Amino acid sequence: MKVTVVGAGAVGASCAEYIAMKNFCSEVVLVDIKEGFAEGKAMDLMQTASLNGFDTKITGTTGDYSKTAGSHVAVITSGIPRKPGMTREELIGINAGIVKDVTENLVKHSPDVIIIVVSNPMDTMAYLVHKTSGLAKHKIIGMGGALDSARFKYRLAEALEAPISDVDGMVIAAHSDTGMLPLLSKATRNGVPVTEFLDAEQQKYVIEETKVGGATLTKLLGTSAWYAPGAAVSVMVQAIACDQKKMIPCSLMLEGEYGQNDICLGVPAIIGANGVEKIVNVTLTAEEQLKFAEAANAVREVNGDLKF
Ligand code: NAI
Repeated sequence: MKVTVVGAGAVGASCAEYIAMKNFCSEVVLVDIKEGFAEGKAMDLMQTASLNGFDTKITGTTGDYSKTAGSHVAVITSGIPRKPGMTREELIGINAGIVKDVTENLVKHSPDVIIIVVSNPMDTMAYLVHKTSGLAKHKIIGMGGALDSARFKYRLAEALEAPISDVDGMVIAAHSDTGMLPLLSKATRNGVPVTEFLDAEQQKYVIEETKVGGATLTKLLGTSAWYAPGAAVSVMVQAIACDQKKMIPCSLMLEGEYGQNDICLGVPAIIGANGVEKIVNVTLTAEEQLKFAEAANAVREVNGDLKF
């Protein structure tokens, strides 16, 4: 199984590292536009192989997409990250051009590829890939929900004073500070609804901190996060590579599901060898339905800025 990761920056290198360390792929190709950068990251990572005990071969290239030919999965992380105080939506001008160009190159050399979109504003970038790649819709998956759900579980465990392995929860809707929808009504601690443990103030804290999870890190780091994003991508790639049929919230093209059409938004889905095997319909409360629709309206407005 060959995986290409475009963008060898913070998130791309983290993706490559986690994928390699989990040892389920034969080859990872890093691509970057900066001369020698992907080659350098690949070499550095390969020199961890004997230390960390993996056999995945990692190579790098400065924009030679022939080296990516025959990739089963490609991850797009190329583009600029946000700086403190910026929203993800402000990145659209630069990142749309990069994502479109990268997609064309990927599909040219790997016509059967499954693309995981990471670059922000991610829901809009995933929509752009749908509109420009010519790939079947089950082959385009936006990464947001996997990361946001991990951040939700982190905050739940903190508020519950419980180990993270005891909690379960999911974030759907948009990958944005305002459009994220942590499903508190469905979150559990060992099968028991968390609402039985957390008072109203704690519930509000968990939801708010989850939604600004990325912004909090951007403020602390001066740029956006990379460890958890890289780990989230590796879980998605592994679900495809090992045909796990794992349920992961992802940004997918909706055609009537959750009352939406012609938009990519975060919904739970079964991810396996074919990419998206099935979108899962979770019953939302009336309030959640309203918030999902509001998130859709906001993403649709950002999508309106795209030029194909
Ligand atoms: P970074 O700046 O560290 O890395 C981006 C890399 O892309 C750079 O090395 C740059 O040279 C490369 N690049 C730019 N144009 C390119 C092109 N045309 N072809 C190939 N490579 C190109 O940024 P970082 O932190 O890795 O973030 C990458 C993107 O991922 C950002 O848009 C960020 O907002 C997004 N992101 C999304 C997350 C999500 O949950 N969906 C989570 C974290 C980041």
